[in-house]
Amino acid sequence: MKLPQLEDLPDVAGKRVLVRCDFNVPLAGGHIEDDLRIRSALPTLEWLTGRGAQVTACTHLGRPKGKPDPSTDVAPVRARLKELAPDVALMDNLRWDAGEEANDPAFVDRLVAGQDCYVDDAFGSAHRAHASIVGPPARLPSAAGRLLAREVEVLSGLLNDAKRPFVAVLGGSKVSDKLGVIQALLDKVDALVIGGGMCFTFLAAEGQRTGDSLLEADQVDACRRLLALGKRIVLPSDLTLLGPDNQVRQGGTSVPDGWKGLDIGPGSAAEFSDVITDARTVLWNGPMGVFEDPRFAAGTRTVAEAVAACRGFTVVGGGDSAAAVAQFGLDKEIDFVSTGGGASLEFIEQGDLPGLRALRESVNA
Ligand code: 3PG
Ligand code: MG
Repeated sequence: MKLPQLEDLPDVAGKRVLVRCDFNVPLAGGHIEDDLRIRSALPTLEWLTGRGAQVTACTHLGRPKGKPDPSTDVAPVRARLKELAPDVALMDNLRWDAGEEANDPAFVDRLVAGQDCYVDDAFGSAHRAHASIVGPPARLPSAAGRLLAREVEVLSGLLNDAKRPFVAVLGGSKVSDKLGVIQALLDKVDALVIGGGMCFTFLAAEGQRTGDSLLEADQVDACRRLLALGKRIVLPSDLTLLGPDNQVRQGGTSVPDGWKGLDIGPGSAAEFSDVITDARTVLWNGPMGVFEDPRFAAGTRTVAEAVAACRGFTVVGGGDSAAAVAQFGLDKEIDFVSTGGGASLEFIEQGDLPGLRALRESVNA
């Protein structure tokens, strides 16, 4: 799993270095809501500029369809980067060119033209076999940036020698996206706690009524098989429900028609907290409910507080749970907030990622 590091590059003084970052930050009306992904790249950018390299950063932003589109202009990112790292230039949105997602060799040629070295610090995109991720290492001396290297070190540590009890807490809306990672985690953890929209498909698999809650009916059998493995899966025992006339009430796990569960209930939040408090390693990905709405934020907040207070090693991954801990002012209490959502889950599931493979196979490795 050894990745080439910045120190493995030829002397960068006076050289041109292309740095792939993941500056895919949340934007609202052209305003950056959270610049974590930009700040996280600074150690790498400063290492390079401090040694006299001429640095050009590149990133995707949003999901434009291979052509310029004003709503995904990197201008706000460029402005923020100018404040944080004034000597670093930023290319236009990589996904404005269809060659990026298609991994077109001609697009790779254009990216590396005039560059002497390549650094990949885009952990959040390392699961994408796109041109800017997998192309340059086959052409230029290449290295992992500090952020990418640290993300991989932390996640590998969780998979290979986590202190026990190791507890994973998963939330978010779709269980179908997470079946693979659930399967992989069940082999590693002492308890898997499940909340968020995805819990309803598990509750249905246990024979509960889910009312109008989120349900992936075609995944009920898969959830039933996971429950039958005999591993410790902790599901909610109560819920916060929204009714047909927009009334909010607490309920059990049998949800009447016309009602939907939008958060775990206070009993579940307390039970989840107990499991988290006893852990020596915690991995949390995905909110427990629709926490953007204060009526359904309590479950996510209680879990965030338990993770923050846990004395074990705590890792939070995924844009929504990272945003939740920041919103509750708890981000400083977490040992490691991953900049990768999909990438961290895919790393846990597969044990490797296309971006990491490309670096290991780079021309200088
Ligand atoms: C992310 O935010 O998940 C990464 O930047 C990857 O973006 P993508 O899911 O659009 O490929
Ligand atoms: Mg994504």
